[in-house]
Amino acid sequence: MARGELFLLALLCVVAGSALAADARKTVGVYELKKGDFSVKVTNWGATIMSVILPDSRGNFADVVLGLDTVAEYVNDTSFFGPVAGRVAQRIARGRFVLDGKVYHLNINDGRNTLQGGGRGFHKVIWTVKEFVGAGDYPYITLYYRSFDGEQGFPGNLDVHVTYRVAGPYALGVHMNATALDKATPVNLLQHTYWNLGGHGAGDVLGHTLCLSASRYTPLDGEMLPSSPGRVAPVAGTPFDFRAPAPIGARVRQVTGGRAVGYDANYVVDGEPDRMRPVAAVRDGASGRALELWGNQPCVQLYTANWLNRTRGKAGEVYDRYAGLCLETQGYPDAVNHPEFPSQTLRRGQVYRHDMVFKLSS
Ligand SMILES: *[C@@H]1O[C@H](CO)[C@@H](O)[C@H](O)[C@H]1NC(C)=O
Ligand SMILES: *[C@@H]1O[C@H](CO)[C@@H](O)[C@H](O)[C@H]1NC(C)=O
Ligand SMILES: *[C@@H]1O[C@H](CO)[C@@H](O)[C@H](O)[C@H]1NC(C)=O
Repeated sequence: MARGELFLLALLCVVAGSALAADARKTVGVYELKKGDFSVKVTNWGATIMSVILPDSRGNFADVVLGLDTVAEYVNDTSFFGPVAGRVAQRIARGRFVLDGKVYHLNINDGRNTLQGGGRGFHKVIWTVKEFVGAGDYPYITLYYRSFDGEQGFPGNLDVHVTYRVAGPYALGVHMNATALDKATPVNLLQHTYWNLGGHGAGDVLGHTLCLSASRYTPLDGEMLPSSPGRVAPVAGTPFDFRAPAPIGARVRQVTGGRAVGYDANYVVDGEPDRMRPVAAVRDGASGRALELWGNQPCVQLYTANWLNRTRGKAGEVYDRYAGLCLETQGYPDAVNHPEFPSQTLRRGQVYRHDMVFKLSS
């Protein structure tokens, strides 16, 4: 496939250190953020997190995110290993919405619906490397994408930035923003990294303990869409209740409502949206590693990799069902078709801001 070859060539241009030639900014490359013994690798293909490496308490290093070895493989990826999803993440029913009296039709890529912004959403485009500082106190990379009017069916030009920043020992900050340049448009971005705190090839995460700051969730139907009107239900008395820490595997097989057994659920995060607040805490007893997620979005999607099935991953590993978990802060699902949910419409000139911090420890 010609496109694949193109990216293989681009791969030869792996960027080292913090020097960033002007012509490298739009070339697909791999960028490392390194502070002490903490390393995060990112590619501007899909604004994707490729690896996160840290030690455990005994000094054993592991890469704790699932992924692929080369950017060329990410071009073909269908598992959504580590990219940013947009312009509107999760599903939009029938790939259709009405905004200011005009009907918009989107790329349909999930049955009869649109998923993760369409087949060529923000996860399948080249982002421009705007700034890159690979070392020092706060290594960071800022990626930029101009989404054009009509892209995958969405209205208006949209400027999008994603910054990954090593914000402390084993802490990774994610800042995403978007500005509607000329027309109103829905915007809902998310970051889709799969975590396995034992290491990406360490088997399943069913033994990881999870705690979610969420008393309510939005039940989804067999197409993974909210009912009409969208329901918000208490987690109490359901297998979705992670208000107290519980092993992910304890009730995972009771979650059979979707198309695959396991969690793929949208929770409403407790507390005030638009404020940074604790969202989730995960702990792997075997390695002793832990992960805390803070965020400022109204909701979080918990996904337990239900669709991985002998999927080839990094370093010859093969990922099976439940090999990782995704914690994706986001807006309400299909909000553009659900006026009872908080709006995701960005008016011309308005700015969307989405912050996350992943605090790892060992
Ligand atoms: C991507 O998929 C194409 C078509 O199936 C295949 O020819 C190519 O080898 C794949 N590239 C990689 C890096 O796996
Ligand atoms: C969006 O984020 C980038 C990078 O962090 C920043 O330079 C830019 O000013 C932000 N845009 C707005 C409108 O806040
Ligand atoms: C996994 O893939 C195999 C081979 O394609 C298929 O037979 C099997 O049904 C799949 N398993 C699940 C759980 O989807």
